[in-house]
Amino acid sequence: MRIRTSALTAIAAAASLALTLSACGQDSEGGSEKGKGDTKGSTVGIAMPTKSSERWIFDGANVEKNLKAAGYKTKLVYGEDDPDTQVSQIENMITQGVSALIVAAIDNKSLDNVLQQAADADIPVISYDRLILGSKNVDYYASFDNEKVGELQGGYIVEKLGLKDGSKKGPFNVELFAGSNDDNNTKYFFQGAMNVLQPYIDKKQLVVKSGQTQLNQVTTLRWDGGTAQKRMDDLLTSTYSKARVDAVLSPYDGISIGILSALKSDDYGSKSKPLPIVTGQDAEVASVKSIIAGEQTQTVYKDTRQLADVASKMVDAVLNDKKPETNDTKTYDNGAKVVPAFLLDPVNVDKANYKEVVVDSGYIKESDLK
Ligand code: GAL
Repeated sequence: MRIRTSALTAIAAAASLALTLSACGQDSEGGSEKGKGDTKGSTVGIAMPTKSSERWIFDGANVEKNLKAAGYKTKLVYGEDDPDTQVSQIENMITQGVSALIVAAIDNKSLDNVLQQAADADIPVISYDRLILGSKNVDYYASFDNEKVGELQGGYIVEKLGLKDGSKKGPFNVELFAGSNDDNNTKYFFQGAMNVLQPYIDKKQLVVKSGQTQLNQVTTLRWDGGTAQKRMDDLLTSTYSKARVDAVLSPYDGISIGILSALKSDDYGSKSKPLPIVTGQDAEVASVKSIIAGEQTQTVYKDTRQLADVASKMVDAVLNDKKPETNDTKTYDNGAKVVPAFLLDPVNVDKANYKEVVVDSGYIKESDLK
């Protein structure tokens, strides 16, 4: 009797396992169960924010390349910098049965509902470059050390002005720009820069002549270069008709290009009025060209090929019930949980090292910089 029962149990267990496997098998054509079954061949959804900046185009292409090499299919969408568009794109991918999602958010607070739908369908979510806030349904975060990005930008300003080594005392005029207020990275970039700049502001060796030093006074919605150009125009008119601006903290190359346009229309860059130091981020082709031409001064290079690699490996691990590699399990609290993260290292780039850093590494072709 006992034998019979256990035999029956074994048959029932085998049947249920077969059912589970066949359900997973079906799913692997379209959907999947989180971390279970054979997910190779399933489709991973990738939601990127915009095509208006070349970095996100590279990011999308590199994530696709890595996932395809690992045996997955991919569905890549761009949200045109519109949060509602991104939400409906993610909803569509959930309906189409993707096995996992990689999301670079447009508005980090707008995704709670749609990520709940993902969780209900057992779809794991990797937050890509920008942390998604307020949702417990974010499994892992792949990014760069965002505070360090700001420290590199602020550090570059104090070094090039001669304040760091004490060869100059100032005071120098500086203006501050930050990124989009709906992007969680913005506060880390700004905080990192202010870690370095604030002591010099306190000593009056750096002066923010406009008085606009609070993050909410200096953000740039959707990282838009035109918006930054307009703010720089306004600053030059309101504050710099008699004074000179010596440095501008810019968090991103698209913003730097806007700032430089405003400066050039105010005669900066002429013999009598040299351009201020202008920082940046992303090593975009237009900005590296501007650096070579002696206009933008610095950018921060983030090898998005590595970021794509980290995010793709995270997906592959989660779908195969393995723990992805992380190197920071403390910093990125999204309000609902601390999201385990893998953070890569950002690198300073200027005219002196751009060849070595961005060309020799194959990130940008030398011919694209002509
Ligand atoms: C941020 C990202 C930056 C820059 C910016 C504008 O989230 O970390 O590298 O790309 O968006 O696209």
